[in-house]
Amino acid sequence: MISLQEVSRSFTQGDSRLQAVDRVTLEIAAGEIHGIMGASGAGKSTLLRMINLLERPDAGKVFVGGQELTVLSASALRQARRSIGMIFQHFNLVGNRTVEGNVGMPLELSGVRRPERQQRTEELLRYVGLLEKKHQYPASLSGGQKQRVAIARALISRPKVLLCDEPTSALDERTASSILELLKEVHASGVTIVMVTHERSVIDRMCSHVSVMEHGRILLTAPVKESYP
Ligand SMILES: Nc1ncnc2c1ncn2[C@@H]1O[C@H](COP(=O)(O)OP(=O)(O)OP(=O)(O)O)[C@@H](O)[C@H]1O
Ligand SMILES: [Mg+2]
Repeated sequence: MISLQEVSRSFTQGDSRLQAVDRVTLEIAAGEIHGIMGASGAGKSTLLRMINLLERPDAGKVFVGGQELTVLSASALRQARRSIGMIFQHFNLVGNRTVEGNVGMPLELSGVRRPERQQRTEELLRYVGLLEKKHQYPASLSGGQKQRVAIARALISRPKVLLCDEPTSALDERTASSILELLKEVHASGVTIVMVTHERSVIDRMCSHVSVMEHGRILLTAPVKESYP
């Protein structure tokens, strides 16, 4: 489902170049929940963001669903990105839009008409258990509710892949747990998940596979239950 081939990304920091991701090759099969672990600054978020080209690699190739993203035109890339949802630690909701407005935004941007958008939005809000909040603004929601809205927004284009960057790190334990359960349901509905986390317990509970990163490289990739120590 996802294939990263020798991808690299560096950043300028002061007078020097920092190699955030260094020639990483990674294969993620359809149906995996693939965890990415590693210390702060290891390059996890940069690597995750290269899967949908939010971060463009300096070198290397990115394939999702058999399609090479790194060669697409801007409009073809926009189209391809509809099959890749993403959620973040701090939710990234738009403050001046209602819950409904946030969830429907990807469809709006791709020109889907209002009646269909509303129907899909309600379907997704029901799925994440927040239909009654549809007219509220993000500021009036709890952290867990905000992440549910973000998940609904990420799923509205029926993606095959969901990228999650520390999706529960800003939440208390119980709320985090309910978000992880929701992500398990998303996975069971046929979505391949890639999840960055610094919590080993999240890997154990959620993931089928794990990759451990250090200094921009993947040290090891393994099935979680079988050989990850
Ligand atoms: N836009 C940027 N400009 C400059 N440097 C960056 C940029 N994005 C990331 N970096 C640097 O690249 C390295 C890897 O960053 P990244 O955010 O991928 O790490 P991470 O593993 O996700 O860390 P954390 O666990 O703290 O989120 C870090 O040294 C970071 O400072
Ligand atoms: Mg990060």
